[in-house]
Amino acid sequence: MDDQVTKIPNRKDEHLRICLEENVRSNRSAGFEKIELSVNALPGLDFDSVDTSKVIFGKRLAAPVLISSMTGGSGKTKHFNQMLARAAKEFNIAMAVGSQRAAIVHPELEDTFRIVRREAPGALLFANLGAVQLNYGFGVDECKRAVDMLEADGLYLHLNALQEVLQPEGDRNFNELLPKIENLTKQLHVPVLVKEVGCGISGQTARRLADAGVLGIDVAGLGGTSWAAVEMHRQADPMRKNVCRTFIDWGIPTVDCIRSMHNLPGEVLLISSGGLETGLDIAKSIAVAADLAGFALKFIRAANEGEVKLHQTIEQLILELKIAMFCSGSKTLEQLTGKWHLAEG
Ligand SMILES: Cc1cc2nc3c(=O)[nH]c(=O)nc-3n(C[C@H](O)[C@H](O)[C@H](O)COP(=O)(O)O)c2cc1C
Repeated sequence: MDDQVTKIPNRKDEHLRICLEENVRSNRSAGFEKIELSVNALPGLDFDSVDTSKVIFGKRLAAPVLISSMTGGSGKTKHFNQMLARAAKEFNIAMAVGSQRAAIVHPELEDTFRIVRREAPGALLFANLGAVQLNYGFGVDECKRAVDMLEADGLYLHLNALQEVLQPEGDRNFNELLPKIENLTKQLHVPVLVKEVGCGISGQTARRLADAGVLGIDVAGLGGTSWAAVEMHRQADPMRKNVCRTFIDWGIPTVDCIRSMHNLPGEVLLISSGGLETGLDIAKSIAVAADLAGFALKFIRAANEGEVKLHQTIEQLILELKIAMFCSGSKTLEQLTGKWHLAEG
C-alpha cells in the first residue's frame, strides 16, 4: 500500500491538534461587517412565531446550520464525530464528516464514521472525499462506499488545491476533474456537493460545477481557518514554512463568494461557510443568498471543551439567528432573503 495513505490517520490527528492549539485563522475578514440587515422597528411579529426551520434535500432542519466537514479516520477523531453527531441530533441540524479516504483504504477505520449515523439516525448527513482522489484511483465505487458508510444524504467532494500543494505529501494533479465530477453526478444515487476548505469558490467556478450536475456549492471562503496556516505549523523546513506563510491569506472572502453566486440555478443548494462566528453571520448569509451556514473551527473548539460547551454554542447561534429574523421583520427564512444592504464606508 502507498506509504502516504497509511500515514493519513497521523496527519488527521496532527491537523486536529494544530487547529485546537495554534492560531490558524486567516488575517483577512470573511466580510460580514460589509453586510447590514434591514432593521424593522415595527416587525409585526410575535417573537415566538419566528420559524428558523428549513427543508433541505427532503429533510426539515430546525435551523439552517451545518457542522462542517472535519473529523473521522483516526481513533482520536471518532470521539469528536460521536459528540458532534449527538449535537446534530439534539438540535436537528445538518452534519458533514471529514474526508473518508483513510476508511476507504483501511476498512477498520470505518467505525470512526459509522458512529455518526448511529448517533443521529434521522439527521441530514453528508459524506466527504477529496475531489483530487478521482485522479488517484478513486472512482464511482469508492464514492458509493463513502456514502453507504454513513447512509449519507449527499456526498461532498472537497477542492483543496492550495492545501495539497503546500503539503509535502500532497496529491497535486488537478487535471480534468470536471468531467469526472460530472460522471459521478450521473452515477451516484445522492446529490453531489462541492466545497473548498477555506479559500472560497467563485461564482464562475460554481456555475461550471452546477452545469456538470453538482447540486450543492459550499463556498468555504477566506476569513476563517487557513490551511496554509495549519500546514505552516507542520513544516520543519524553514523555506517551506515561509511558502505557507506567504499564502495564509490566499482566497476569496466568504461574503464575496456568496455575492458572486447570482448565476447559480435555483435548485443548487448554496452553503455559506468559512469564518462564520455568530447567528448574525448566519442571518446575513441567508439574507444575501445562502440556504445553509456551516461552522468548522468554532464547533471543534467548543467540542474540545466538552458537550455542554458545544450545546451552548449551538443554542446561542440559533437564538442569535432568531433575534436577527425578528428584528428584521422576518417570520421565516424565505422572508429574510433579500433584506440586506452594503454597509456605508
Ligand atoms: C480540524 C479540521 C479538519 C478539517 N477536515 C476537513 C476534511 O477532512 N474535509 C473537508 O472537506 N474539509 C475539512 N475541513 C475544512 C472545513 O470543513 C471548513 O471548510 C473550513 O475549516 C472553513 O470553515 P471554518 O472557518 O468555520 O473553520 C477541516 C477543518 C478543520 C478545522
